Amino acid sequence: MNVLLVNGSPNERGCTYTGLREIADELQKQEIGSEFFQIGKRVVRGCIACMNCQRTGSGHCIYKEDPSNELIDKLHAADAVVVGSPVYYAGISGQVKCLLDKAFFAGKGFDYKPAAAIVSCRRGGASAAFDQLNHYFTISNMPVISSQYWNQIHGYTPEDVQQDLEGLQTMRTLARNMGWLLRCITAGEQSGISRPKQEPWVPTNFIR
Ligand SMILES: Cc1cc2nc3c(=O)[nH]c(=O)nc-3n(C[C@H](O)[C@H](O)[C@H](O)COP(=O)(O)O)c2cc1C
Repeated sequence: MNVLLVNGSPNERGCTYTGLREIADELQKQEIGSEFFQIGKRVVRGCIACMNCQRTGSGHCIYKEDPSNELIDKLHAADAVVVGSPVYYAGISGQVKCLLDKAFFAGKGFDYKPAAAIVSCRRGGASAAFDQLNHYFTISNMPVISSQYWNQIHGYTPEDVQQDLEGLQTMRTLARNMGWLLRCITAGEQSGISRPKQEPWVPTNFIR
């Protein structure tokens, strides 16, 4: 099993990474592998609503080099995902918003992959950013993994985060909960419990 850990911070070894690292270490203790996807300082374009992805069914963004396309492929390959974002003005960072808008609009078929969000902030705005991240999963039939608290860590530097003992514990609990659900899904599949068969989509755009 492999969990994709998306570090949405431009700081590849910063606070968000420190939270994700704690999750990776705890997953490893449960013999579950993980892989980092670093957005780093790469340019991510915003969705321009060209609808090419919908029209062609390509499953990818028309901007071929955009990191969202790499993320889509990695999401398909992973068994589960944790997306981490630093908190910028009480929301997720612009890079993460651009990345996820396109990955979830163009890329389809992440249904039933367990997903979790984590956020890192110096002081405030964590719950608003946490809610924002969960919107992507909860519109995509993805089981959301929770923890003992909302998944947040606090710090301006990785050294600060190391002092946030409750935040780090929340990360470890999250990793154990993720491991438990992944094992439950495997056991369910082995005993013939299949995914729910869904109805065809009934789009209602409130246009009369
Ligand atoms: C543009 C910008 C906006 C920020 N806004 C907030 C904020 O609203 N609340 C907060 O507590 N910290 C805020 N911060 C601080 C970062 O969220 C915080 O230091 C975070 O842990 C950094 O994570 P990183 O090291 O992974 O980048 C902001 C930082 C930047 C650069």
